[in-house]
Amino acid sequence: MKHVVVTGANRGIGLELALQYLTRGDRVTATARDASAESLATLSRAHAGRLTVRSLDVKDPRSIEAFASAIGDDVVDILINNAAIAGNRGALESLAMDEALEVYATNAVGPVLVTRALRKNLRKSAAPRVAHITSGMGSIGENTSGGWYAYRMSKAALNMASKCLALEFEREGILSAVINPGWVKTDMGGEAAPTDVQESASGIITTIDAMTMPRSGAFLDYRGDREIGW
Ligand SMILES: NC(=O)c1ccc[n+]([C@@H]2O[C@H](COP(=O)([O-])OP(=O)(O)OC[C@H]3O[C@@H](n4cnc5c(N)ncnc54)[C@H](OP(=O)(O)O)[C@@H]3O)[C@@H](O)[C@H]2O)c1
Repeated sequence: MKHVVVTGANRGIGLELALQYLTRGDRVTATARDASAESLATLSRAHAGRLTVRSLDVKDPRSIEAFASAIGDDVVDILINNAAIAGNRGALESLAMDEALEVYATNAVGPVLVTRALRKNLRKSAAPRVAHITSGMGSIGENTSGGWYAYRMSKAALNMASKCLALEFEREGILSAVINPGWVKTDMGGEAAPTDVQESASGIITTIDAMTMPRSGAFLDYRGDREIGW
């Protein structure tokens, strides 16, 4: 039984990841800004004893510190930095400093600080791995449509951070990779998205299981069939 930590687990891909790990028999710490979320209370009732719900705002360093204290010295086998915001999806004219910095803090800096805070817990695992949920929109090489400035910039920064973490953690055996979850039917992805949340989460889980040291630091796809161009 592995211990999996998922950020932003109260809805969308994060909630489905928590559900699928619980269904396969793992132990899950699901984090949310609102730890009293009904979605997680329901999950907790169905999987008594294997789900812990904790409060975590990934853009707030004090919240990260409190979360790390709450986890204590428990082993963490898999950390999934999933929480993110899309910010303003519009064109250059609508880019605003405050909002762009909030997107950057949430999507890029927050995941690095959460990973740093749980490093001691990951070190205790026999096969520790960190998966950062990025986006195809974070690829510079595959950017053919532009727009989404703050979001794209934040995910490109997350991609860079994951590579740095992979190099820094190599000697400790902790793997780090970014995974594109596809375009998924969630509040963020919208109804027109072609991929349902079950397919995306199950692909992410398979991709995390297949992570290896030689491919640590890679930009992976949830279908596991290719590495994405930076
Ligand atoms: N859906 C897609 O098509 C798609 C495509 C590419 C990449 N992604 C990536 O996939 C991941 C999950 O996206 P999703 O589609 O499931 O999005 P979602 O439905 O909008 O859910 C986002 C989750 O992140 C949480 N969150 C946001 N800001 C947070 C913060 N400061 N601290 C803690 N939690 C926070 C939200 O919590 P609240 O309920 O408190 O807001 C929510 O649980 C994200 O990294 C996203 O960028 C999604």
